Amino acid sequence: MAKLLEVDHLSKVFSLGNILSRVRITAVDNVSFDIKPAEIFALAGESGCGKTTAARIVLGFEEATSGTIIHNGKKGSKNKKVWFTEGIQAIFQDPFATFNPLRTVDNYFFETLYNYKLARNRQAAIETINQKLKEVGLSYEEFAGRYPNEFSGGQLQRISIARALLTDPTLLIADEPVSMVDASLRMSIVNLFKKLRERLGVSVLYITHDLATAYYVSDRIGIMFRGNLVEMGPVEKVLMEPKHPYTKLLRESIPEADPTKRWKEAVTLAELEHEEYLRIGCKFAGRCPLVMDICKQEIPPEIYVDDVLVKCYKYAGY
Ligand SMILES: Nc1ncnc2c1ncn2[C@@H]1O[C@H](COP(=O)(O)OP(=O)(O)OP(=O)(O)O)[C@@H](O)[C@H]1O
Ligand SMILES: [Mg+2]
Repeated sequence: MAKLLEVDHLSKVFSLGNILSRVRITAVDNVSFDIKPAEIFALAGESGCGKTTAARIVLGFEEATSGTIIHNGKKGSKNKKVWFTEGIQAIFQDPFATFNPLRTVDNYFFETLYNYKLARNRQAAIETINQKLKEVGLSYEEFAGRYPNEFSGGQLQRISIARALLTDPTLLIADEPVSMVDASLRMSIVNLFKKLRERLGVSVLYITHDLATAYYVSDRIGIMFRGNLVEMGPVEKVLMEPKHPYTKLLRESIPEADPTKRWKEAVTLAELEHEEYLRIGCKFAGRCPLVMDICKQEIPPEIYVDDVLVKCYKYAGY
């Protein structure tokens, strides 16, 4: 099947600190993946593994250090951002940060439709808005003239999805779209992505640290660790028969919907993080129960095992 998005050998290096003490972090490290039309692809991994950075590059918000992105057969570059990102829309983690608290939400919808010349007059605009709101289970009547704080987090996230649909995108990039939504409502919102894929044929790049929702919603999944894609394949295989030692560990330590736990993990990881970025071989070598000498010396090869890509020496006959 033709590819909608092709991310090829993408890398992003951030330089931190001052001239005297430079720290270079390869936030995205030679990552390649693709997304097919009407496919839901998840990128998962713990905090700081580079998910958002990869998404921001695809969205044209951030420039890659190296690598290419092809969307709809068109190659992205610095000055050709506009048509390259055409058809791509983003949905962010915090819906309350997406909307200005002093503006009514319908304002944003009219503005988008007029700016993109998608509606000739107010009546046509209302029709389009209503149609998009219906896709997410809302209606114009319950939405018109209201301010962001008059909605729950779940409702507002539905509204931001409807807004993303206004331009009839072919790819939605949803970065942790449910992590700030009430746990009881998460599945219903994740379900929306499935429904939209079926109804509108839209593809979704679903970014999350939550393997349970990733398993439920996505067709394929890529597991990231310290900027590297360590395992990628059909979600059923990757999560039910994980091959990479890191995927196995991640699966066992699913940070279930408990934000306090997530913070604790992030804090302890921070100490390890710097050391892991500097590793010359496999970034996971320091924590891997199956570590071998070669893992500390050279970057592991990417190997296909039964439709699944695994970046690990264990599968290279060592
Ligand atoms: N603008 C920036 N300048 C410097 N370093 C950055 C910048 N943005 C991200 N980083 C670093 O790059 C690494 C990857 O960050 P990123 O936000 O992509 O991770 P993430 O997987 O989205 O994490 P989370 O699950 O917490 O959202 C981190 O070490 C982060 O500190
Ligand atoms: Mg992120």
